[in-house]
Amino acid sequence: MDHFQYRDGVLHAEDIPLPRIAEEIGTPVYVYSRATLERHAQVFRDALKDVPKKHIAFAIKCNPNLGVLRVLARQGYGADVVSGGELERAIAAGMAAEDIVFSGVGKTRAELALGLDRGIGQFNIEHEAEGVALAQIALAKEMTARAVLRVNPDVDAGTHAKISTGKAENKFGVGIDVAPEIFGRLAGLPGLQMRGIALHIGSQLTSLDPLEAAFERAGRLVADLRAAGHSITHVDLGGGLGVPYRPDDNPPSPAEYGAMVARVTKDWDVTLLFEPGRVIAGNTGVLLTEVLWVKPGATNPFVIVDAAMNDLARPALYDAYHDFVAVKPTGDKMTASIVGPVCETGDTFARDRLVDAVEAGDLAVFRTAGAYGATMASTYNSRSLVPEVLVDGDRYIVVADRIAAGTIMAAERVPDWID
Ligand code: LLP
Repeated sequence: MDHFQYRDGVLHAEDIPLPRIAEEIGTPVYVYSRATLERHAQVFRDALKDVPKKHIAFAIKCNPNLGVLRVLARQGYGADVVSGGELERAIAAGMAAEDIVFSGVGKTRAELALGLDRGIGQFNIEHEAEGVALAQIALAKEMTARAVLRVNPDVDAGTHAKISTGKAENKFGVGIDVAPEIFGRLAGLPGLQMRGIALHIGSQLTSLDPLEAAFERAGRLVADLRAAGHSITHVDLGGGLGVPYRPDDNPPSPAEYGAMVARVTKDWDVTLLFEPGRVIAGNTGVLLTEVLWVKPGATNPFVIVDAAMNDLARPALYDAYHDFVAVKPTGDKMTASIVGPVCETGDTFARDRLVDAVEAGDLAVFRTAGAYGATMASTYNSRSLVPEVLVDGDRYIVVADRIAAGTIMAAERVPDWID
């Protein structure tokens, strides 16, 4: 459920009619709903009611906007971060350092040191050399790094290949077969407190089966590690739960996920960590855009909108589907391709899709754009960086400015040795 609803034929974000934001801020613009964000945070937490010891760390890569993070910090959420930049953002947004988990396959030594200096709660180690480096850095600072070892359970998440992470051939984690030896060596290092394991098999998962298979493997590994004398107190189950993008999509609910987790992990006696991203933020945002032109095509017309692949990259990158609806639908429908102004055929949001009939000057939105939307935006084609707005009831605020193409250009220089 979200708070983007039609009232008197006009799409609103909570109590704000979207045409007002378009008029005052311009388009394209991302619009987030605070009430939806808070609801999703609550629903996910409620879904884990049967998990006795838990910590939820929002995967901030999906929406690192400071305003969004502050809302989640107030909901008691920590952060899963994957870079020094994300780490500083989580802290700036008010997340407690000890509630931060540092994931990521290529952390630099400087980033590991930053994590220690900031006092974060946990490092998710991706391979042995990283663990050795972390131990050395911690020792030099006379500190102890709390860490878990990310394992690759070798299950097929059944999602898009570019966002699958838990197959043996993917770059993430250490093979579950070699995990006990590596864990044993790292656990012996001064400076490192190896307290458990982590896994994350992919994103936009639409079935619980691969997650359950992966968690069962993790459970067996916990038992093996304990049998080898290790104290295992934490298991990080990652994120990955899918959301509905199409009106008839029916991914597992947070409640179903929570029930499965509680069942599979009931005898583990650990603190479980969760790193949800999309399921929290996906449906909390839309990308508001204006129709620039409707151009006849060989088969169907092209609806050319002022948002493009640089603003919302998912369709171009993963052939992702985002629902496209008019802000003031007339009730008529048309079959059209929805495209942006960027000079690539890949700048296509929808091909030959039945959509609300629109014409030049109309406003429309791409739904389910709150996760992996603005954060993946670029300025390709020297377009401005898309702004973000957070709505709260009958008020809203720009939580990220539009960065004009001219501002980007001002940060460049022409060498004076080119005449
Ligand atoms: N934990 C780790 C270690 C991750 O790598 C990810 C996502 C998450 C948690 C959060 O996963 P979620 O709950 O959001 O599925 N840009 C792609 C998605 C990339 C996901 C990367 N990792 C997209 O737009 O679909």
